[in-house]
Amino acid sequence: MSNIYPGLEGVVFAETRLSHVDGQAGRLLLAGHPVEELAPRATFEEAAFLLQQGRLPDSQELASLQEDLEGRRSLPPITMRLLEEATAQGVPAMDALRLAVDSLVLALPAEKMPASPFPLEGLAVLARLPLLVAATYRLGRGERPLEPLSGESTAGLSTAAQLLYLLDGKQPSAERVRALDTYLVTVCDHSSNASTFTLRVIVSTRSDLLSALVGAIGALKGPLHGGAPGPALETVFEIGSAERAEKVLREKLARGERLMGFGHRVYKVYDPRARVLAQAAEALFAADADRELYALARHVEATALRLLEEHKPGRNLQTNVEFYTALLLHGLGLPTALFTPVFAIGRTAGWIAHGREQAAEGRLIRPSLKYVGP
Ligand code: ACO
Repeated sequence: MSNIYPGLEGVVFAETRLSHVDGQAGRLLLAGHPVEELAPRATFEEAAFLLQQGRLPDSQELASLQEDLEGRRSLPPITMRLLEEATAQGVPAMDALRLAVDSLVLALPAEKMPASPFPLEGLAVLARLPLLVAATYRLGRGERPLEPLSGESTAGLSTAAQLLYLLDGKQPSAERVRALDTYLVTVCDHSSNASTFTLRVIVSTRSDLLSALVGAIGALKGPLHGGAPGPALETVFEIGSAERAEKVLREKLARGERLMGFGHRVYKVYDPRARVLAQAAEALFAADADRELYALARHVEATALRLLEEHKPGRNLQTNVEFYTALLLHGLGLPTALFTPVFAIGRTAGWIAHGREQAAEGRLIRPSLKYVGP
């Protein structure tokens, strides 16, 4: 028992049919579909079904899943009170989300069994995440949370449409819904990332899925995982104009800071998700957002890549998914505080499916530590 694998890097602990990350080729497969083919076309619900069932849904299966989600889009009063208290105290959005998801245990006894092939706890959370994220945002601004769109609405009933509507009460355009769907599908699963591993550890103890989802949210929050896009965008704003990029980034590296949105444990080439999101951001910015910001971000990216190669030669530090996540979600009008909570919505689809795989695996995850104490 002498080998130590810091960060468990390269350690394979199970098989999965959900996603495959090839960090050398820069390739990501989601249940057999290349991310660049699936993400720009599929809705989030289709991707969630794909992960759960290993194939895309037909129209009836999709309608059944959407009905299952719609029927659950309400919050227990105590969850709303928790969010009110959390926002009144200025608790960060991810902490409020974790608290609120945990409280959904109070909604479960009254919950109807799903007609679609999803676990009840998973659907209960998936359906309510847009409500929780939007309520946190609105309460933080001193506004009352909105009721979800009803079945008669023209904007459709998807997770993406609901979230955009619940934030500002405006019917979202088809382009904005498409952009958010592309984001949610892009990040819906990514093999054994830190939050998914956390979830699998909890499921492996035969604990419940809700506990595992709460643990995964806690892991996602960290700035080395899902917490990076807010700081990535703040860096672009701090730079402000192309001629300042090199100076600001050099100073950060000299202070020993990491450049947010760059580097990855597995990808040693350009993260394919960054490419998908860059294209989606470009389309969105061409339509209705600030094109100058997009051009500045491109310049910041090129400068960062050049300086990182200089700073850590041969380490192949490339753009990761978070850099263009920041730009796309900003283009959709979301504040930086919501970037990681929205990431959690997308990744929940993967977490639920990993929960099922891990439960079938059956083996308790219990690695070892080498004792070096007295
Ligand atoms: N800026 C500056 N230096 C970096 C960066 C960065 N963004 N990323 C890695 N490095 C440095 C490391 O400190 C390390 O230096 P050292 O060997 O002298 O200690 C060297 O480059 C190599 O690092 P890796 O081993 O490739 O990085 P690791 O696998 O440990 O970490 C991580 C990956 C955490 C993503 C890292 O690149 C990082 O902190 N990036 C910034 C945060 C970020 O963007 N996170 C989002 C990741 S995507 C996701 O989780 C959804």
